[in-house]
Amino acid sequence: MSVQLSKEQLMIQKMARDFARKELAPLAAERDEKHLYPADSLKKMGELGLLGMLVSEKYGGEDMGTVAYALALSEIAAACASTAVIMSVHNSICCGSIEKFGTEEQKQEFLVPMAGGEFIGAFALTEPEAGSDAQALSCTAERDGDSYVLNGTKRFITSGQNGGVVLVLARTKPTGSDGITAFLVTHDMPGFKVDKVENKMGQCASDTVDLVFSNCKVPASRMLGKEGEGFTVAMSGLDAGRIGIAALSLGLGQAALDEAVKYAKQRKQFGQEIAKFQGLQWILADMAMDVEAARQLVLNAAAIKERGENCTMAASMAKCFASEMANRVTSQAIQIHGGYGYIKEYPVERFYRDARILTIYEGTNQIQRHVIARELLKAKGR
Ligand code: CAA
Repeated sequence: MSVQLSKEQLMIQKMARDFARKELAPLAAERDEKHLYPADSLKKMGELGLLGMLVSEKYGGEDMGTVAYALALSEIAAACASTAVIMSVHNSICCGSIEKFGTEEQKQEFLVPMAGGEFIGAFALTEPEAGSDAQALSCTAERDGDSYVLNGTKRFITSGQNGGVVLVLARTKPTGSDGITAFLVTHDMPGFKVDKVENKMGQCASDTVDLVFSNCKVPASRMLGKEGEGFTVAMSGLDAGRIGIAALSLGLGQAALDEAVKYAKQRKQFGQEIAKFQGLQWILADMAMDVEAARQLVLNAAAIKERGENCTMAASMAKCFASEMANRVTSQAIQIHGGYGYIKEYPVERFYRDARILTIYEGTNQIQRHVIARELLKAKGR
């Protein structure tokens, strides 16, 4: 089933593309090189409604739907993958989870300003010893009167340093998926600190950090959802998040294809443009097929989510395929550029590095295949 884009969705896509090309693309290489957080651009994105795309109008959002969101996110990623991952975690996981599970007070305190881009959300599930096996998390939250006391370390947290609120998953019971609870933690809380800042291979303008909780007292009013509901908060957040990462992958793949086509038409060898050689044309054709197939999976998953249906399997399929596509296509874009693809003067070098994490974060592609197979075997058949 192909998704027919509406006039409004195409307008949102164009708005995001114009913004990304004008505001993000010219700064992306320097931000990557110097690890500069794109604070100014995020502020402008907030003004354009790009940081509250899925939030309902009642809470200051744009309520544009997941398809329009995926289109916009792809355009942002085509210019700057670092900005796109910040946007994805913020919109898909953080705003989405607060709107779905939050109390009215939490929505007023967090969702409304987040939708306007006043501050960015971070999602803290992963720990040093709990990655793919998310249930193995050992960060604890012990009840103490009207508060919970958090202890433990979170690892590889996107926007953990620059974000204004962190959705933290902690254990309120020693075992079981119903022993995990979600909390909204802010940097002003004593006992909460940012520790190691990672020096990454790609997506360098987005911060990835360790967060340490040492007897950090969090008011019970900051619990997101019910006690013991945290794993559901995390998993349903990740269903949405994976569509975001799939859209990011699509944008990166499309950008690499565009650069490869442009270069192949400019570069001359053996007395003609290299685009005239069939050997290169076939590489470009394979890249274009790959990008197009990913686009269909991304839009399909987004449309399923937008209809309010279960999107677990479609989200994992889109994330898995599109992230692998982005790795193949960015690699081929370098091949087409030859030696020029390996130097930082051309953006494909950054695209290639930025793509590598896509098969790892928000669930490795081995985990995506596990989720797809599980959903497939659970289904009652057609
Ligand atoms: N929606 C709602 N609930 C869900 C769910 C979903 N998609 N998936 C599972 N659950 C529920 C189950 O129904 C189950 O509930 P019951 O016990 O009541 O039946 C409960 O959660 C436990 O589920 P499982 O038994 O399936 O749990 P599991 O231990 O086998 O783990 C997993 C499943 C899919 C492997 C999960 O651990 C997982 O997704 N791992 C990968 C973690 C991950 O993606 N981390 C990303 C970190 S965030 C990040 O990367 C952001 C960034 O920086 C960019």
